[in-house]
Amino acid sequence: MTTKPHVQKVDVVVLGAGAAGMMCAIEAGKRGRRVVLLDHAERVGKKILISGGGRCNFTNIHCRPENFLSENLHFAKSALARFTPSDMIAMVERHGIRYHEKTLGQLFCDRSAHDIVTMLERECAEAGIRIILGAKAISVERNDYLEVRTSESAFHSESVVIATGGLSIPKMGATTLGYTLAEQFGLRIVACRPGLVPLVFSAEDREQWCDLAGLSAEVVAQARARPREGSFREKMLITHRGLSGPAILQTSSYWQPGEAITIDLAPDLNVLAPLLARNARRDASAAANAIRAVLPSRMAERWVVLHDPVDWTNASLAKMEQHLHQWPLTPAGTEGYAKAEVTVGGVDTVELDAKTMQSRKVPGLYFIGEVVDVTGWLGGYNFQWAWASGVSAGQSA
Ligand code: FDA
Repeated sequence: MTTKPHVQKVDVVVLGAGAAGMMCAIEAGKRGRRVVLLDHAERVGKKILISGGGRCNFTNIHCRPENFLSENLHFAKSALARFTPSDMIAMVERHGIRYHEKTLGQLFCDRSAHDIVTMLERECAEAGIRIILGAKAISVERNDYLEVRTSESAFHSESVVIATGGLSIPKMGATTLGYTLAEQFGLRIVACRPGLVPLVFSAEDREQWCDLAGLSAEVVAQARARPREGSFREKMLITHRGLSGPAILQTSSYWQPGEAITIDLAPDLNVLAPLLARNARRDASAAANAIRAVLPSRMAERWVVLHDPVDWTNASLAKMEQHLHQWPLTPAGTEGYAKAEVTVGGVDTVELDAKTMQSRKVPGLYFIGEVVDVTGWLGGYNFQWAWASGVSAGQSA
C-alpha cells in the first residue's frame, strides 16, 4: 500500500538550490514569504563550487545585455538593471569575501568558491529559508494552488520557481525537469545545445593539427554565420580532439552544426611583410620564422608545410597572409554537454514577464537562471544572470 505524503502549505517553493534558486529564495524570504528551497543534490550550490577553476568567477564588472545570447536580446535588460554587478560586489563585501579582477572585468574569489556558497547559505538562514536536500522534484500540478511533489513530500504554494539549471555536466545532477515542466504547461522551448564548449576537428583537421595538442596562441575567433554577434580576441588552445581556450569557447556558443568558424591567427599584424622587402629570402624557412612571431614554433612550421605556395610570388604571399587572418574551419561537432559550461536555448523568453520572470500563461509559475533562453558569455556573465533573474523573481514570487 502506498501512503500519500503529508501536504505542507507554504508561500513559495523554489526548485533547485543553485545560484539562481538560492538568490531567489533569499529575496523572497526577506519579504517575509515562507519559502522552501528544494534540491535533489546532497548539498547546495554544487556548480558554484566547481566554477571558475574552484574560485568562482562570480560576476563581470562590464556586464551588459550585449554579453548574452537569446532569441530576444532585450529580455535580460530589466533583470540585469535590477541587480547589477555592483549589487553583487556589495553583497560579497558585506560578507568579507576577498576577490580580485583577473582579466576583462572578471571577478574571482581570492580564496575559494566555497566563500560564495557559504555567503548564500548564511543569507538563506537569515531570511528564514527552509532548505530540503536529497529531494527530487517529480511533478508540479496546478489546481486552485500549485502543488509540488518530491520523492518524499508534497507542497501547496502560491508560487513555484523553477531554477533547475541547464543540461551541462550531467554527472553533477543536471535534469530535464525544468524543460519538461515548461512543456507540460504549454510554454515554448528554444532548442537547446551545448555552449561554452570545446570544438571537435573534422578527421582531416585532426590529422593535421592534433599532434600539436597543448599549444596555444592569441587569436580572434568568430562564428562565420554571425560575424556581427561577437568576435573574441583571446587564447585558443589545440586539444587532442580539436580546439578549446576562451576564444573558441565563446565562439562555440554562436556556432551551429555544419557552419564554419573563422580564426585570425595574427590579429592586427602583417606577418609576412618581412618577406616582401627587397632582397629578402622567400622560402618556407623564412615564412616559418616570420610566423613564429605570433604562433608557437611548431605551429608556425606546420602552418607553412600545409600552406606552402611553392612559387613564393607576391600574390602567393598575399594569399598566405590572408589565410593566416581568415583560417576557415568547419568543426565536426562539439565535446557535448559533458564538457559544456552552459546550455544555449531554454524556456522561450516570450513566455515570461521580463520584470518578474513569471509565466504569462500560468500565474505563480516562474523560470529563472540557466533554464531560460538567456546565455552569457564566458567571464562571470552566467552567474550575473542567475543572481539577477533570481532577485527579480524573488521580489515577485
Ligand atoms: P544550477 O545548475 O547552478 O542549479 C540547478 C540546481 O537544480 C542544481 O543544484 C540541481 O541539483 C538542481 N536540480 C536539477 N534538477 C532537479 C530536480 N529534478 N529536483 C531537484 N533539484 C534539481 N558561470 C560563471 O558566471 N562563472 C564561472 O566561473 C562559471 N564556471 C563554470 C564552470 C563549470 C565547470 C560549469 C559547468 C559552469 C560554469 N559556469 C560559470 C556556469 C554557471 O555555473 C551556471 O550558468 C549557473 O550555475 C546556472 O545557475 P542555475 O541556478 O540556473 O543552475
